[in-house]
This record gives sequence, C-alpha cells and structure tokens, in this order.
Amino acid sequence: MKIEFYPFTIDSYDAVFALWQQCESIGLSDADSQERIRMYLNRNPGMSFIAASEDNVVGAILAGHDGRRGYIHHLAVASDFRKKGIARQLVNRCLKALTDSGIRKCHIFIFNSNVDGIAFWKAIGWTYRLDIGVMSKTLVPGIRGACWHPILI
Ligand SMILES: CC(C)(COP(=O)(O)OP(=O)(O)OC[C@H]1O[C@@H](n2cnc3c(N)ncnc32)[C@H](O)[C@@H]1OP(=O)(O)O)[C@@H](O)C(=O)NCCC(=O)NCCS
Repeated sequence: MKIEFYPFTIDSYDAVFALWQQCESIGLSDADSQERIRMYLNRNPGMSFIAASEDNVVGAILAGHDGRRGYIHHLAVASDFRKKGIARQLVNRCLKALTDSGIRKCHIFIFNSNVDGIAFWKAIGWTYRLDIGVMSKTLVPGIRGACWHPILI
C-alpha cells in the first residue's frame, strides 16, 4: 500500500471534510466551512497536508502559526489506515514547516475525553499539559457546530 503526502489545498476540502466527519473526536464547527478553511490555508501556506492512497484522502492535518507559536488542528487518519505511521509523518511535515518559519513551539487542542488521541500524542513525544486550560468566547450569536460533539473549538 503506497501512501503519498501532498500539501492540503482547498481542492481537497470535500474529501478532507468527509474524513473529519468519519473520525471520532474531531470537533467540527462553523470554523470548518470551506470558506474558513480556505482562509486558514491562505494565511498559512504550505503548512497543512493530506495523505492519499490511490487518490483517496486517508489522512489530513491543519497547521499554522500566529507569528509566535504554532498550532495543529484536526489530525485524522481513516480507521483502515491507522497504526502505519501516517499521522506521525503528517505531524512531522507540519513541524518542519513551522520550524522553517522560525516557530519554536507548537500546541494542539484535544478533547480531554480523547484517551486514544492523547496516547498517540504522548507516543510521538508530546506533553499533556495539566497546568493550563482553554477558555473561549463566542463573538457572534447563534454559531452552531457541524457534528455531534457538544464542545466546539
Ligand atoms: C490519533 C490518530 C491520528 C493516530 O493516527 P495513526 O496514523 O494511527 O498514528 P501513527 O501510526 O502515526 O502512530 C504513531 C505512534 O503513535 C502510536 N499510537 C497511535 N495510535 C495510538 C493509540 N490509540 N494509543 C496508543 N498509541 C498510539 C503508534 O503506536 C505509534 O507509536 P510507535 O511508532 O512507537 O509504534 C488516529 O487514530 C485518528 O485519526 N484518530 C481519530 C482522530 C483523533 O483523535 N485525532 C487526534 C486529535 S487532534
């Protein structure tokens, strides 16, 4: 099985969104509309990637930075393709792009309930922080999520 890695461009949006919807623990919201992802990719060119098998998207990751720290979002690998090192390679590509841009630290958001996801990040050398939490404020009334998860990032 040959896996190819490509930069995530907006042309892959539909396939990536379908993958995110299939994967547990990916919290989708209005921030993941095609328009918003296009904005994200334009602001952070060459930092997000997909993995493909026979032209089918089987993995995806979003990464970017704010000039200060890097952030990774929505890492997902299709269930039939897991435990083959695909996620590790996607993360490594993002970290190289961030490092090449002068970024020295990267954060992720992860649901505390995502035990498997936390185990993955620990397995590839990340630290689960107990010293900080996330606080959020909705700026526009009526924003709703696109998936089952009650918490939207
Ligand atoms: C988490 C996820 C991205 C891992 O993808 P993957 O391609 O299977 O991961 P890899 O094969 O690259 O694994 C890399 C390392 O993590 C370990 N790992 C992967 N999943 C693991 C799990 N559930 N528990 C413990 N370790 C795990 C692997 O064993 C491997 O370690 P090794 O090299 O020492 O053997 C995938 O399971 C997924 O899409 N889950 C649903 C979405 C999600 O939770 N995303 C993360 C939230 S941001």
